[in-house]
Amino acid sequence: MDKAANPVLGSVSDQYLLNVLEAQRDPEAFWLAQARRLVWHSEPSHASRSDFTGDVRISWYEDGRLNVAENCLDRYLLTQPDKAAVIWEGQEDGHRTVLTYRELHARVCRLANTLRRLGVSKGDRVAIHLPMVVEGVVAMLACARIGAIHVVLFGGFSAEGLAERLRDSQAVVVITADVARRGAKLIPSKTTMDEALAACGAESAVRNVLVVAVTGATVPMQAGRDLSYEAEVALEMPDSPVEVMAACDPLFLLYTSGSTGRPKGVVHSTGGYLVWASFTHETVFNSQPDDIFWCTADTSWITGHTYVVYGPLVNGGTIMIYEGLPSWPAPGRWWDVIDRNGVTVFYTSPTVIRAAMREDDSVVESRSLASLRVLGTVGEPISPEAWQWFHDKVGRNCCPVADTWWQTETGGVMITASAGKVPGRPGAAGLPLPGVQVELLTPAGAGQEQPVVEGAGEGLLCLSASWPGQAMTLWQDHERFRQTYFTTCPGRYFSGDGARREADGYIWITGRVDDVVNVSGHRIGTAEIEDAIATDHEVVESAAVGIPHDLKGQGLVVYVVPREEGVLDTARVRKVVADSVGRYAAPEKVYVVRDLPKTRSGKIVRRLLRKIAAGELENLGDLSTLSDPECVQALISQVAEQQ
Ligand code: WT7
Repeated sequence: MDKAANPVLGSVSDQYLLNVLEAQRDPEAFWLAQARRLVWHSEPSHASRSDFTGDVRISWYEDGRLNVAENCLDRYLLTQPDKAAVIWEGQEDGHRTVLTYRELHARVCRLANTLRRLGVSKGDRVAIHLPMVVEGVVAMLACARIGAIHVVLFGGFSAEGLAERLRDSQAVVVITADVARRGAKLIPSKTTMDEALAACGAESAVRNVLVVAVTGATVPMQAGRDLSYEAEVALEMPDSPVEVMAACDPLFLLYTSGSTGRPKGVVHSTGGYLVWASFTHETVFNSQPDDIFWCTADTSWITGHTYVVYGPLVNGGTIMIYEGLPSWPAPGRWWDVIDRNGVTVFYTSPTVIRAAMREDDSVVESRSLASLRVLGTVGEPISPEAWQWFHDKVGRNCCPVADTWWQTETGGVMITASAGKVPGRPGAAGLPLPGVQVELLTPAGAGQEQPVVEGAGEGLLCLSASWPGQAMTLWQDHERFRQTYFTTCPGRYFSGDGARREADGYIWITGRVDDVVNVSGHRIGTAEIEDAIATDHEVVESAAVGIPHDLKGQGLVVYVVPREEGVLDTARVRKVVADSVGRYAAPEKVYVVRDLPKTRSGKIVRRLLRKIAAGELENLGDLSTLSDPECVQALISQVAEQQ
């Protein structure tokens, strides 16, 4: 078989290995050289001053000064002003917009000027709550231009979910849509935002709400606060000066879920993050100047930040943005988007692939897909079968598939089979990128030394050295940052994932080892779900767990103990979660039970709950640590009755 035509064969490229060695030998020099990808107002004289011990400090290119929007736009005005920066397709037939670098720059400047006029200054937070429209990209870059910190909020959050993030970030301006389209559904973005602001009351710092006319629907506007986006930007000039930022100034904060407590505002830097976006976008996807790069993630996730917006634009590429769903109005819609626009790199999620696999193969086979060069997936483990289907059917056996492991906190890809450099292996994430120092640690008992796994083996996935894309802190809670990531495996960043390494270095991700559930790539903290349910007075306590799900990867199952035995409306429990967090987090199944299994110290034994919900009753493990081992049988029969 031809090596080039089948990326599963072949070996790691020499150049890649040289980079790995170079980054290992002299990380400081390697990362300083990578900083030259960017244009700086003053170049950094050193790379990392990070420290994973003590109070923990993440610091990259400290004395460098730059502006992110200038790096993504202005520099290309000189060399390629008429190149397409953004191709946007709406879900309605015929809705299509192409913006050149010159046009995108002009739009960004008009909004930057508008925000300045509204009193937004360097360091202020601006919340962006938009569907997949061009204005979402414009808004992020406009914030970057004036040094405001953007906080992109998912369109699927409930009003309470939005309110919580607005309170925590103290955003001063919100940019939202009148109404968003989602397949046949219309999402009332502005009304939900109004409810969120009402819920915040005096705790909100929001002075103005800019409303983008996405559908043109009439929505209530509060005089003095709400403004038409189009009317405001039309008043401004298409040029505006950039705010020169320090490399360690925050570029954005982005909320994500952890195993405990409320969502955390992950803070990313200006200089290090942008170096990482540029480096990984080029390395992982073997990016070429004439690529049409389509990352299908929503901009409200880190994947959207790094690979819809910053990575491709800082490297001068063309990004594809699509407003709609993969199979609406008909199966194969996304393959049409690829063919119509000549997409060359397609970066999507295992959930999308699994859904496409369920359709008849003729759907994908009837499309050309000849423009595709590289494929990628992210967000959840991809099974070898799904990998192979993606490779064979979408990639037609000739596009490398890069499964990419990373997290909101890592800023960009960390472990992957970089296209054209590292052969793909179905089901495995691949190798750490140059400069990424992966260590697997064996979990140890309290107070015990955790041995590092050498060579082949399995353990907790840690990173033993900082990298430029690493988050600097959690918004206004550095202590929580230190505790969350740097105490499980002292002196290292602990990801929350487990992993297995093969003898030749390939890494397989085995999944979260903490109480985080991954539903279709949505990261959901079980504590968040339980906190929401706790507001229901009919419930004494609850426990949420993730179980395997054919389509979504994992599904969320909740056990609730009612105050009054036997009586509880499970639909209400789902609604409480949907209202408090968002519809995407509503549990698949709610089991009403008399008791939850606990240890003698009162800790809920989730391992058992997971197994019972998944129907894996053969090997329930050691039950002797339970305070009431009897309760297990009762639990099993109560669940069986409700299945
Ligand atoms: C968690 C991070 C990375 C951007 C999207 C999600 C899981 C992510 C993979 C992968 C197996 C993966 C991990 C990780 N995950 N990519 N390729 N294979 N698992 O970002 O919301 O911060 O979630 O997603 O469990 O910790 P996120």
